[in-house]
Amino acid sequence: MKDKAVIGIIGCGMIARDVHLQNAFSNPRIHVKWCCDILEERLKYVKEEFNPEHITSDYREILIDSEINGVMILTTHNIREKIIRDAAEAEKHIYVEKPMSTSVEESYRIMRIVRETGIKFVVGFNRRCAPAIEDAVKIYVKHKNKPVEAPWRFKRNKDTHQPLREEEATMIMMRINDDLMTFKPYALDEMIGEGSIIGELCHFVDLACYITGKEPIKVYAEGWARVNQVLTLQFEDQSIANIFETGVGSFDHPKELIEIYHKGASIAVDYYLQLRVGGIKDFYKKNYPFWYDPYQYITEGEGTNLFINKVRERNRIIIEKGFAQYPAVDKGHYRMLDRFVDCILLNKPSPCNELDGARATLITLKARESVRLGLPVKISKDEYDYYFA
Ligand SMILES: NC(=O)c1ccc[n+]([C@@H]2O[C@H](COP(=O)([O-])OP(=O)(O)OC[C@H]3O[C@@H](n4cnc5c(N)ncnc54)[C@H](O)[C@@H]3O)[C@@H](O)[C@H]2O)c1
Repeated sequence: MKDKAVIGIIGCGMIARDVHLQNAFSNPRIHVKWCCDILEERLKYVKEEFNPEHITSDYREILIDSEINGVMILTTHNIREKIIRDAAEAEKHIYVEKPMSTSVEESYRIMRIVRETGIKFVVGFNRRCAPAIEDAVKIYVKHKNKPVEAPWRFKRNKDTHQPLREEEATMIMMRINDDLMTFKPYALDEMIGEGSIIGELCHFVDLACYITGKEPIKVYAEGWARVNQVLTLQFEDQSIANIFETGVGSFDHPKELIEIYHKGASIAVDYYLQLRVGGIKDFYKKNYPFWYDPYQYITEGEGTNLFINKVRERNRIIIEKGFAQYPAVDKGHYRMLDRFVDCILLNKPSPCNELDGARATLITLKARESVRLGLPVKISKDEYDYYFA
């Protein structure tokens, strides 16, 4: 067995520079042989910072290299389908940034080429692999499979309680506090980035489906497709996920909060820095390290309080010097890429495959439809699981 996956990176823009290049070049099981971008200055940056064996502005050069096992496709989503097709036809495994697609027709064509060629295909819904989320999901699934009541739970009608159907449901709440001033123009442009309902909320609808492990059956959304929206996603077992996204918030506060409730347990992931659990014996709280922390000397507080203190320091420096970085949390990019390596080297299943990608696209498209109609919209599996090889 080979001990390294040989990969090429196609698209060296913001997300590549923020996370993937660093992750790929520092992963001991990856050899990054090629980097590709159509912009000269991006290639110059990659050459200076990472010095890959080869750089190119034509991704097809990567695809004809027989040593290459897989590619990371990190271009914007409006121009990815052809690259996916070409890479799959060249029998290269694929890690593609989210969203996988922006229409059901595109999902169908991607699903078809992936299944016909039999390549491994990973959609970058990286939050599934965030360490805090992985722990939260493990705790949730264990509790769901065998609910154990906390011995301290207050029960008013202990002996006379009649079980309710709703008691079987899982309730999920996700809050995304974003600042639209930080959005790139393409993200807001409906013809390119499709607005945050398609381009960004795909992460969270995927996560909700992943956590519940149930089929989504209905979505109702209020707000605007571009930014500022509240989605209510209902599942086949009466579980509900409520996803609140705002672009009029501030990064002075943590961006994401994810809460899962089930059978007397509450499990909260507070911006991937702290996991808090209530209603389950022997587990109360766990803190997670920052992914990138330029303010290690700020140590007061824990979890998101510590984050806020570090951001205050960042803000102080900005006012003084004009530039300072945000501390970054672990949203699972590294682990997701590592799972891609498992797919390549160990023939493991994808941590998030083309069906997951197609489902997220369908749900967000329906959410946009719901925003525009002002009505809930039904979802059914045959609308995204439609390709039979
Ligand atoms: N998972 C996450 O956390 C996360 C965060 C941000 C963005 N994203 C996703 O990543 C994708 C890229 O976003 P971005 O902000 O990095 O965009 P970007 O525009 O900064 O980068 C895309 C890069 O692709 C290059 N490119 C375009 N066509 C190419 C081609 N034919 N061959 C090679 N390179 C080509 C561009 O020149 C550019 O450098 C988007 O789909 C976005 O949704 C994911």
